[in-house]
Amino acid sequence: MAMQEADFDKWYQAKAAAPALSANAAHGLKLLQSKGCLGCHTTTGQPLVGPSYKGIYGSKVTVLVNGKPVVKTVDDKYLEFMITHPDIWVVHGYQPIMPAIPLTDKEVDDIIAYIKTLK
Ligand code: HEC
Repeated sequence: MAMQEADFDKWYQAKAAAPALSANAAHGLKLLQSKGCLGCHTTTGQPLVGPSYKGIYGSKVTVLVNGKPVVKTVDDKYLEFMITHPDIWVVHGYQPIMPAIPLTDKEVDDIIAYIKTLK
């Protein structure tokens, strides 16, 4: 059955409201799925085994460095470090169980590009 005019308008407005992902960010989202990251992290703000990615970019996070709390600002360097060295800084309130998952530099960059879109 053809879409009713009102349904079409709703669909079109929803589509226009959701900004299209860049190719890098779209690849980043695919990697989060295929590398198993979304088994422990969500994109919705809901914590799971690890913190949600939503809204973290630009925020301040307390991490334990050698057991001592230190406040860090979530930027590209922070995310790259947390993704590639999960066992060194531990986000306060979470267990130090994130595995090191082999990723190329480009894959890490694309994942960061996607996390940035989750405002
Ligand atoms: C087995 C569960 C698990 C998997 C799989 C996992 N993580 Fe994590 N991750 C965690 C936990 C728990 C923390 C918080 C504790 C810590 O910092 O180690 C965390 C922390 C993070 C942080 C820091 C978040 C913040 O709020 O500061 C980032 C970024 C991150 N993970 C990215 C990833 C990416 C990317 C992948 C996939 C390549 C991944 N994680 C896979 C459990 C997981």
